[in-house]
Amino acid sequence: MTNQSALILRMVSLLLLLLLQGTEAKMEIITSKENVPVGQEITMLCQAGGEGIITWQKDGEDIEEKVSTLDETTSKFHIMKATMQDAGQYTCHCDFDNGDEAKVQKMIYIYEGPSFGGTSTYHEFLEGTDGMVPCLVTGQPAVDVHWFRDGKEISTNAGRGVRHLPNNTLFIQGVKREDAGIYSCHAEIRGRPIDKQLAISVVVNAHPTVRLREEVKKVMAGPETNVTLLCLVAGHPQPNITWTMPMLFDSSHHQFNSDHSQLTIRSVARVDYGEYVCTAKNKISESNATIMLYVFEAPEVFVSVELLSMSVGEGVSVSCNVSGHPQPELHWINKHNGQTLDLTTGRVHVVDGVLTISEVVPSDGGLYSCMAVTASGNASRDVAIITQPGPPHYLSVAPGPTSVLFFLKTPPVNGGSPITSYVLQWRQSAAEQWKEIVTAPSLGRDPLKITSLKPYTLYMVRLAAMNVMGPGQFSDTNTVRTHGIRKCHTHNYRTFPAQTVSSTHHPSSEGEPDSPVLSTDAMKVDGNSFSIPLKQTDDGGTPLQHFNIRYKQDKEGTEWKEMQLSSGADSISLQGLSFISAYQLEVTAINANGSSIPAVFNFTTGAQPASRMTKGGVVAIVMVIFLVLFLVVDASCCYINRCGLLMTVAVRLFGQKVPGLRMLDDAEGNTNGEVKLKGMSTPRGSLQQTGVQTITKEGWQLTEVTCDKAPLTKHEKTQPCKDLPHADA
Ligand SMILES: *[C@@H]1O[C@H](CO)[C@@H](O)[C@H](O)[C@H]1NC(C)=O
Ligand SMILES: *[C@@H]1O[C@H](CO)[C@@H](O)[C@H](O)[C@H]1NC(C)=O
Ligand SMILES: *[C@@H]1O[C@H](CO)[C@@H](O)[C@H](O)[C@H]1NC(C)=O
Ligand SMILES: *[C@@H]1O[C@H](CO)[C@@H](O)[C@H](O)[C@H]1NC(C)=O
Ligand SMILES: *[C@@H]1O[C@H](CO)[C@@H](O)[C@H](O)[C@H]1NC(C)=O
Ligand SMILES: *[C@@H]1O[C@H](CO)[C@@H](O)[C@H](O)[C@H]1NC(C)=O
Repeated sequence: MTNQSALILRMVSLLLLLLLQGTEAKMEIITSKENVPVGQEITMLCQAGGEGIITWQKDGEDIEEKVSTLDETTSKFHIMKATMQDAGQYTCHCDFDNGDEAKVQKMIYIYEGPSFGGTSTYHEFLEGTDGMVPCLVTGQPAVDVHWFRDGKEISTNAGRGVRHLPNNTLFIQGVKREDAGIYSCHAEIRGRPIDKQLAISVVVNAHPTVRLREEVKKVMAGPETNVTLLCLVAGHPQPNITWTMPMLFDSSHHQFNSDHSQLTIRSVARVDYGEYVCTAKNKISESNATIMLYVFEAPEVFVSVELLSMSVGEGVSVSCNVSGHPQPELHWINKHNGQTLDLTTGRVHVVDGVLTISEVVPSDGGLYSCMAVTASGNASRDVAIITQPGPPHYLSVAPGPTSVLFFLKTPPVNGGSPITSYVLQWRQSAAEQWKEIVTAPSLGRDPLKITSLKPYTLYMVRLAAMNVMGPGQFSDTNTVRTHGIRKCHTHNYRTFPAQTVSSTHHPSSEGEPDSPVLSTDAMKVDGNSFSIPLKQTDDGGTPLQHFNIRYKQDKEGTEWKEMQLSSGADSISLQGLSFISAYQLEVTAINANGSSIPAVFNFTTGAQPASRMTKGGVVAIVMVIFLVLFLVVDASCCYINRCGLLMTVAVRLFGQKVPGLRMLDDAEGNTNGEVKLKGMSTPRGSLQQTGVQTITKEGWQLTEVTCDKAPLTKHEKTQPCKDLPHADA
């Protein structure tokens, strides 16, 4: 139907053309197209432009069929279905009525195609192979083929990777990834503007490849350790990734990313150790790669016991095992001396991680450590072994009057636990039970002490240290004799002769010096200075080291002052004392064995010299005072008892006894003014000596100046301080 209407349309346009051209006597062939595909109709109108007889010829041969005369000036040639044979040169010839003749020619081309037939529009090649992409074109009379990619023609030049072969096939030599894409096969009817193109896809496939970032991975096991294994794959089409693992997949432990190129193992444990194979597979092939995962474990140490309390002599064994990967080495170490215990035999030995100590001794006490040693780290665990302390060695023992002192030069071995106390024991004979006290360890070098012993007594003493395990072995037994007790501070202590009165003598004890001797008769007091000779009679067998001097004013609240004198000193001299004051002095001699009993001495200092006076002046003043005193005494004596000098004078004057007055001669004893004078002439403030060192002597005469019936009495005893003793021996 549509064909017919198109035909009518064409006819109408032809007629219009004829009308336009009018009556011009011009001859022509009118046709709709000169290139006619096979099978289509061909219509030609020959217009003569004048009346005449019109004839048609093809390639010089007359044709009668398919020709029709429309009117005197127009003829039509029509073929329903063109065939290749219809192509040719058509001539329209007219013999005009007026005798003229004319002709006009027209070339009609018939073609078929081009057609791509069964040409494949999709090709896949494996990377690296040679690819052929044919373009199967048919067409008549002939077809020219061109290949294009991205608007550029692909040449036929040999030697190019991609080229156009003479048989219209596209050849891709050694297909590369970039050769993939859309190609276009362009076909053209030779010499005619008739063409067609076909788009052809080329796909380049590639084998899967697997690339690893690391083939060996080392991690430390632990709940906090996550490890990620990465498998980088390539290939076309995109390969699928699968993993083979040393253990079954567990979604709580293993995790993949979306394309499975990444495997994460959470909380890596020892069981995760092994080979992880990542396989990439596509339709071309498959490929795999292996990651080795090494899982190390931090070393750990287990000991069977961490604190062991045992008695000396017992046996002990502590086992230790170590874990970790790689398997750690096991070492036992004595932390006290840092020694590795590696003997496999003996009293202390280690076999298969078991530390054995047979017959524990106190020095075994202490900290031990079982160590796990690996290249990547160490671990250790301590074991404390506690036993009783060792016996005290390096001990010296010193007796006192009622005590025994122990000096420890070094503390005993503590058995692994601090020494809490010492047991001190004593007895007088082997038959006796030991008596003991427990005492805290002394600070510093202070001695330990047994007190309340009897003086001058032989004792056996010993001691042992104690820790939480109890007392350790006792020291060797020492035999000591206690000293005597000092009695020096008593009043009743008197000795002869007067000039060397020393303090107590005690029986010479081993070692310590005797008390120093103070020559009291040679002591000197000059105002606030004091000096006294010093002598050492017995150094106790060991050279003296020095003298300790201490002195203090004899009143409440004063402090002892101390000084030392060298062992060669032969006197003590003190300066800058207070005037007219009583002082106490103590002197001890020291040697390597200890100190003597102190020698004790009391003295009183002199007065401050008031002013510079001549000796005569002083004598005069003293005389006057004395005279006044004498007169007062005598007067009162005379008055009360009718005695004294005044009485004598009175009697002499009056020649008779004055009634009521007693004669001087009647007085008991013969103490007279001379004696008194002698006594009183001692300078004011002379020493008042009392106590042990008081220079006393039996038969001393002590004058008591009283105005009594018996003014002059004899005493054998030292009197309180208001006495005025004189040594007139
Ligand atoms: C084109 O030519 C090549 C080599 O000359 C040949 O291998 C190929 O098979 C031919 N292709 C076609 C479609 O004839
Ligand atoms: C390990 O992975 C888990 C879960 O993915 C996460 O919660 C944790 O924080 C990770 N640990 C470390 C140390 O990255
Ligand atoms: C990995 O590939 C090799 C050959 O390339 C093959 O022998 C092996 O079986 C593969 N392994 C796995 C786990 O697929
Ligand atoms: C190590 O010792 C601990 C406790 O003593 C024990 O639980 C563990 O099983 C031991 N391990 C080995 C490997 O012997
Ligand atoms: C582990 O112990 C060994 C031997 O005791 C020592 O040489 C090494 O330095 C220690 N390593 C570490 C990491 O502490
Ligand atoms: C020395 O004086 C003090 C205090 O007055 C007294 O206790 C002590 O017994 C006196 N010493 C001697 C040896 O007289």
